[in-house]
Amino acid sequence: SSSPVLTIDGPSGSGKGTISRRVAETLGWHYLDSGALYRAVGLAAAWEGVDLDDDEAVEACARRTRIRFADDAAGEPRVFVNGQDATDELRLETTGAAASSIAAKPGVRAALVDMQHDFRQPPGLVADGRDMGTVIFPDAAFKVFLTASAAERAERRHKQLMDKGVSVNLDSLLGEIIARDERDANRAVAPLKPAPEAVIIDTTGIGIEAVVARVLAHVHEGG
Ligand code: C5P
Repeated sequence: SSSPVLTIDGPSGSGKGTISRRVAETLGWHYLDSGALYRAVGLAAAWEGVDLDDDEAVEACARRTRIRFADDAAGEPRVFVNGQDATDELRLETTGAAASSIAAKPGVRAALVDMQHDFRQPPGLVADGRDMGTVIFPDAAFKVFLTASAAERAERRHKQLMDKGVSVNLDSLLGEIIARDERDANRAVAPLKPAPEAVIIDTTGIGIEAVVARVLAHVHEGG
């Protein structure tokens, strides 16, 4: 499909998820949370006791894992992994770490390509991840890269988890986030980095609404 795509890449806690959802809602476009796919595979591998050092076994797991997105009655997005509502478990930092580990495997990334392309449907798609603008939708008309200081990203994740009733230590969360970003940025395949033509927005100290407005302005200006 040649529907327009807006890619929003960046590290964990940069505000990608919230901002991408709001922008998609405003534009009336579809939304792809690609991180949820890697998280789902990490979780399914853990459930099934797959050896994370066995690349072929993890790739096979990625190919057989069924992932479905659906909003609940209150309009809250839920994610089902092999038929089970895994929304809350998917958000845990332990799942994020598992996702980052399996996401470094080329076979796992290849297994998830078609699923991501299928989200490109009229009237358009907002795609959130690490390699949306560089690898998955290189022809996207609109590309944004969000950043924020590590301290602020850890605080945002901390607040998100607290809101979900999950209590974690802020300092250890900061350490985990820095380690995960380092792994994502330094891996050989599809590393976290802005596409050359991406608009880079530093969201440190900036409210969600202001960032949403800047992203929408980028789209309305024609990329
Ligand atoms: O965005 P989120 O924190 O949910 O992503 C979880 C992990 O999945 C990331 O740390 C990264 O390793 C991996 N990921 C990826 N490519 C994407 C999206 C996520 O490698 N497009």
